[in-house]
Amino acid sequence: MNDKRVAFVTGGSRGIGAAIVKQLAGDGLHVVAVARNLDKLQSLCQQITDSGHSAEPVVCDIADPAALAGAIEKTIEKHGHLDVLVNNAGITRDGLILRMDDEDFDSVINTNLKSAFVAIRAAARSMIRLKGVGGRIINISSVAGVAGNAGQTNYAASKAGLIGLSKSVAKELAGKNVTCNVVAPGFITTDMTDVLNDQIKDLARSHIPLKRFGNPEEVAAVVAFLASPQASYVTGQVICVDGGMVM
Ligand code: NAI
Repeated sequence: MNDKRVAFVTGGSRGIGAAIVKQLAGDGLHVVAVARNLDKLQSLCQQITDSGHSAEPVVCDIADPAALAGAIEKTIEKHGHLDVLVNNAGITRDGLILRMDDEDFDSVINTNLKSAFVAIRAAARSMIRLKGVGGRIINISSVAGVAGNAGQTNYAASKAGLIGLSKSVAKELAGKNVTCNVVAPGFITTDMTDVLNDQIKDLARSHIPLKRFGNPEEVAAVVAFLASPQASYVTGQVICVDGGMVM
């Protein structure tokens, strides 16, 4: 039985996920960091362990429901409990709707939305038995899921779906002291936004009241709050971390 609260963070190898892993480990949780490849994940977890905190790498393709549910079940078996679930991993396959094929739609929905459903279902039974702080589920959506975005029908549908999923889970599990909230980032500097050309980046910046992209640590700070005991009375909420882009 692990004495620390245990967090399971998908897409933990880089970008926003890696910042969440570091932040939660720094806050004293044991973090299970999940991605498809071991390389970056292992060095991140080593770095965390070397600094006196606690994290372990787990390789899993979250688009494979059996593998994802299995990874969560193993975590619960190994540590005795799972306290915080952060569904962060996500992909884009952008394109205008007239040119988008079924594969681009289905892969984004499966990776971004269905994985969260599978993970929450696998984690819920353990979470509803928690004593003390209780369970915390945090789903990483996007402002595209709140406001829509041309060229991202698949991505925006997956991210809007996460909001409906989260509000329903919040209502179902509130009586068992499990909260479920959504963090919706705007433009954050990671590999996902590095692929945008300068013209699109400038246009995006012009729509952000704070006039800059955010950094992964600014998203991780909000996730850490929602995971903390201090957020005990917050559930079913969507918190945009977007420099004021969507109000
Ligand atoms: P990223 O592309 O830098 O990292 C994504 C992470 O997810 C990586 O660790 C990758 O290995 C993992 N991943 C992807 N597919 C996976 C799969 N099938 N199985 C396991 N792991 C998988 O992305 P970034 O920017 O850090 O985004 C993290 C989350 O934040 C995503 O859900 C994204 O949609 C969301 N987001 C990002 C924004 C941004 O501006 N960067 C804006 C709004 C939302």
